[in-house]
Amino acid sequence: MFIVLEGLDGAGTTTQTRLLSAHLRQWGFETWTTREPSAGPFGKAARSVIEGDETLPPAGLALGFAADRIHHMFKPDGIEEMLARGVWVITDRYVLSSLAYQSAQGLDLNWLIEINRAAPTPDVTVFLDTSVRVCLERIQARGENLEDKFHQRTALLNTRRQYLHALSSGLFVGKLVTADGNGSKADVLQQILRGMAEELQTDLGVFGGMLSQPPRGLG
Ligand code: TYD
Repeated sequence: MFIVLEGLDGAGTTTQTRLLSAHLRQWGFETWTTREPSAGPFGKAARSVIEGDETLPPAGLALGFAADRIHHMFKPDGIEEMLARGVWVITDRYVLSSLAYQSAQGLDLNWLIEINRAAPTPDVTVFLDTSVRVCLERIQARGENLEDKFHQRTALLNTRRQYLHALSSGLFVGKLVTADGNGSKADVLQQILRGMAEELQTDLGVFGGMLSQPPRGLG
């Protein structure tokens, strides 16, 4: 299974990637968690732009994310190889992040779809729908730069709109599981597991039932 977690900054994708992986491992599945931008050369370049160490117009950054994605997928020991070995791959962000964030930066959605065409569609996309207010609170609690809160709020609202638009196209989504990301970690994980069990029942039979059981060791 190739599972992608998506959501706004502060939505909880990193935490839930970790928790979902731990839960699946408890059930005996082999998992590999990863993220985009990846740790590869194109991912590092994209991250240096996001962090302000390099400057690049939005179209260049979009191409950087797309190049990183293809590298991350097809490199030795990349996503494709892991899936071929029967490992469940869980990635924190994938194509939908580009469709949402880069179209929020003013780029054309069809062009973004085109430059990502070589990226395979995941089996499941988990969208953590966390309110902009909660995302801003979490970003602030992490001590990240919130100098221009008004600007950041507007950007998150815009990105959320673009996420919903991109999700409605169904492209690069696979089966969609939407979870309300505003609750506690355990609560959000429960929603993800329930959603996956529902969506995967026909594909996975008994595993669907297993996934819906409460995770152990989570308070
Ligand atoms: P993330 O790893 O979630 O942030 P952090 O390193 O702080 O945990 O993602 C980095 C940022 O990159 C995030 O704001 C979303 C953005 N991004 C895009 O704009 N397009 C993309 O294609 C991807 C993968 C990420």
